[in-house]
Amino acid sequence: MDIITEPSALRERARAWSRSGETVGFVPTMGALHAGHASLLRLARERAALVVASVFVNPTQFGPGEDLDAYPRDLERDAALAREAGVDVLFAPAPGAMYAPEAATWVEVPTLARHLCGASRPTHFRGVCTVVSKLFLLVRPTLAVFGQKDWQQLAIIRRMTADLGFDVEIVGAPIVREADGLALSSRNVRLTPTERAEAVAINQGLALAEELARGGTRDAGRILAAVRAFYATAMPSGTVDYLECVDPGNIVPATTLAGAALFAAAVRFSAVRLIDNRFVDVN
Ligand code: PAJ
Repeated sequence: MDIITEPSALRERARAWSRSGETVGFVPTMGALHAGHASLLRLARERAALVVASVFVNPTQFGPGEDLDAYPRDLERDAALAREAGVDVLFAPAPGAMYAPEAATWVEVPTLARHLCGASRPTHFRGVCTVVSKLFLLVRPTLAVFGQKDWQQLAIIRRMTADLGFDVEIVGAPIVREADGLALSSRNVRLTPTERAEAVAINQGLALAEELARGGTRDAGRILAAVRAFYATAMPSGTVDYLECVDPGNIVPATTLAGAALFAAAVRFSAVRLIDNRFVDVN
């Protein structure tokens, strides 16, 4: 596995891949890699001749007061995991390498960023779209893999890719969870033991939503109220940032369940904010 830190060096390599017609699978990450990331890397490995992963804690997707500085960083460990997962090229640019100081261009998909994480983090998705566009232009992948853990991000990247005409197939990968159901996240290591124990309730609450929906409840408000009540007792250390039922395609709140729905939650603990979701099809 080669580690490339200079964007210009990556661009050169990508030109060569492109000339030789090789399929390139790309997995962008912010590092602190775990089994969730590894599942994306494996999927890329199965689907492409060459696998490129990036590790870059993208400053533009963090708002003021968010955890940019505290975000876990360990390139040596990440490189070992990436190597083991079959990555051919790891792109790990220095913090200043991706944006010129005078950079003034943003890529955004405002209609899909109004709710869920877009509502709590108003500049987050334009940072994600901008960096992913820049990475797509550097890597020129055939396909790129994104996790359904960040469902809204995946929906936004799909829209952006279609709208800008990137010749990249976007592949969605299922959520990888701990044995007790907590969705894997680079931020889980920053939970206190009490918070870690309570955090299993995030997924349990979403499972309750699914159960109620499958049991025939069609009023999304009633389902969300039941989950909120469950969260209040099961997760006293957590504050619910949002708990919503949305249309999985356009990420607009749904009041009545008909067909596919996405239940999504974000919960704040002392040092971290965790997200999770559950796709439910009542048809
Ligand atoms: P990061 O949070 O590092 O996540 C990288 C990819 O791993 C994303 O596609 C995310 O959905 C996926 N992922 C994280 N946890 C997962 C889990 N438990 N199961 C399955 N997939 C999981 O998302 C980002 O970085 C950034 O916003 C990025 C796209 C790299 C742009 O900076």
